[in-house]
Amino acid sequence: VIGTGFVGPFHVDAVRRGGYADVAVLAGSDDARTSERAAALGVPSWTTDLDDLMADDEIDVVHVCTPNRTHVQIATAALEAGKHVVVEKPVATDGGSARALAELARERGRHAGVALTYRGYAMVRRARELVASGEIGSVRLVHGGYVQDWLADPEDYNWRLEPEVGGASRAVADIGTHWFDLAEFITGQRVTEVFADLATFIKHRQRPVGGRSVAFQRAGGAAETVEVRSEDAATVLLRFTGGALGSCVVSQVSPGHKNTCQIEVAGSRRSVGWEQERGEELWLRARDASQLLVRGPEDGAPAGTPGVPALPAGHPEGWVGALTDLFRPFYAAILADEPVPGAGAAAPYPTLDDGARGVAYVEAVLRSSREARWVELTAA
Ligand SMILES: NC(=O)c1ccc[n+]([C@@H]2O[C@H](COP(=O)([O-])OP(=O)(O)OC[C@H]3O[C@@H](n4cnc5c(N)ncnc54)[C@H](O)[C@@H]3O)[C@@H](O)[C@H]2O)c1
Repeated sequence: VIGTGFVGPFHVDAVRRGGYADVAVLAGSDDARTSERAAALGVPSWTTDLDDLMADDEIDVVHVCTPNRTHVQIATAALEAGKHVVVEKPVATDGGSARALAELARERGRHAGVALTYRGYAMVRRARELVASGEIGSVRLVHGGYVQDWLADPEDYNWRLEPEVGGASRAVADIGTHWFDLAEFITGQRVTEVFADLATFIKHRQRPVGGRSVAFQRAGGAAETVEVRSEDAATVLLRFTGGALGSCVVSQVSPGHKNTCQIEVAGSRRSVGWEQERGEELWLRARDASQLLVRGPEDGAPAGTPGVPALPAGHPEGWVGALTDLFRPFYAAILADEPVPGAGAAAPYPTLDDGARGVAYVEAVLRSSREARWVELTAA
């Protein structure tokens, strides 16, 4: 696992819970921090030399949990060294690199997954099934958003604010890509075009001097004033292949919202709605009666998979459970020596093609906002 910051340790945990693999090495960019984190997580080895890591034949899978701009280079090195990869989203900061990475994984015959965490929730999969089975009728509207508050004040800072590290987009690339993937995953339809409006409400921020800043934590200490060059928030209109319309609000500056990822799909017969912070529940609304569906015995990880089993109904699972479940089919495919999914083929886990869709979405949103017009989403 490469990356010792916010999300890397959760990949370590998810891989272990899945029971498919041992986490052999933790890699980072700073010796002291990486060794300290490896010790805290009980990972037997650590390194800051990625060449060493790639040359190690004992390593079969590399998880890339580093800042956005480094993903393609690290994942390319891993694929070329014959490793399977899990890449964090957004998989790249430009569409061409994202598509090339997906192609490279296919050429090398390596499984390549993307940590689109919210697909890992049982009730998200149930929502997808409800739409696919025709239960809600034909899809008409898809709406919701992903809003947080951890960058709500000028003193809040993170590498995501720096286009050289995070890419040209911030809120949309960081969390809007999750919502976009949910919208396509649950509806089974593709977004064809978008119309976006972006806002940077906080024009200047305090960047910590000499320190590092971790997501969701305020650094404190000495700071310098810097100009902000990416969006705090966005509103996006969407059109889908099946004729549905969508709208989404994305924000990292919405007070009181920690991680509110919410989506509603309104069909001709029923509406289905899900919210991450109440991830065990699904609203199934109808004109005559609405139901709150709660995760039941049938909503779990596939039976017979190794590792820590999915919790029975009534024992709430959450974000870490979702990440674990997301990786189960990925590791199962590797262990079963299954061929890698072809371009555009259905896959049991989110692929780099799905990751590239997210990057194409970010690019379309940026262009739409810049040019104040609808922009087509090119197929990835
Ligand atoms: N799937 C999700 O739900 C989810 C959640 C959080 C973050 N993420 C994604 O995960 C990635 C990391 O985010 P984070 O919040 O954990 O960041 P972070 O800043 O907390 O951690 C990044 C880590 O990468 C290491 N690193 C940076 N450059 C490196 C290099 N060249 N070689 C080795 N290590 C290097 C740093 O030392 C640090 O440990 C981002 O792409 C982010 O979008 C995804």
